[in-house]
Amino acid sequence: MILDGKKEAALLREEIKKEILEIKKKTNQSPGLSVILIGDFAPSQIYVKNKEKNSKEVGITSEVIKYSKEVKESEILEKIEELNNNNSVSGILVQLPLPAHISKEKIINAIKPSKDVDGFHPMNVGNLSSGYKAIIPCTPLGCLLLIKKAEKNLTGKHAVIIGRSNLNGKPIAQLLLKEDCTVSIVHSKTKDLKSECQKADILIAAVGVANLVKGDWVKKDSIIIDVGINKVADKIVGDVDFEQVKNKVKAITPVPGGVGPMTIACLLKNTLDCFKAR
Ligand code: GUN
Repeated sequence: MILDGKKEAALLREEIKKEILEIKKKTNQSPGLSVILIGDFAPSQIYVKNKEKNSKEVGITSEVIKYSKEVKESEILEKIEELNNNNSVSGILVQLPLPAHISKEKIINAIKPSKDVDGFHPMNVGNLSSGYKAIIPCTPLGCLLLIKKAEKNLTGKHAVIIGRSNLNGKPIAQLLLKEDCTVSIVHSKTKDLKSECQKADILIAAVGVANLVKGDWVKKDSIIIDVGINKVADKIVGDVDFEQVKNKVKAITPVPGGVGPMTIACLLKNTLDCFKAR
């Protein structure tokens, strides 16, 4: 089973679009997303353009606020404060990475937790890990929705996550714990990566190493979620060697066309949820 993220994301966007249309009919209001983009890092420009296009297509009012890479940190903090207090803004996203002179920690902490559509604010991180209501980071949420397409009941499954980042590995672990999985996080210092991965009923690769996971790393009939986006000789490949793995497992996400499209669809979902919560 190939977990078609493109198709699932399109279905999710369709649901979101319908709901926004209903809300607009009833209230004459619609969700608003403000994206702050600093500098000229090419991948960020592409991601933000995609986020804007997808937002508009489902009826979210979207604005991109651009700054040069020399902008002062205080100017960004002032803008965030203005957006925090603007009632027509449901969600705020500051595209990462930031220039070295701007503190990621300060910027993330400045965003009002109820408008933090990335789910990066410590309040949302803490609420998620405590099992309380939280805004869930977009890529982890996308991963969970795809896993659920392959297997509804995750109770007792052994999930192994390769990668311990705040962006992906840690929140994915929290989400799967909530689903009653047994969760292991493995990383670059893990002693025997391969044998740990062989134990996984659900294997999530979020480490950024092209084709790391080989055919003999995976258990028969397992579910494989590939979060990696790596460029190899002008081709985009994941962290999993798709050709070696695909025929051994129950379900696998391709790269591209797996987790990637789900991330943006989940951003739209988070923006709508923030609007509804207000
Ligand atoms: N840069 C790469 N991925 C992301 C993301 O999910 N959110 C933000 N804000 N920046 C990113």
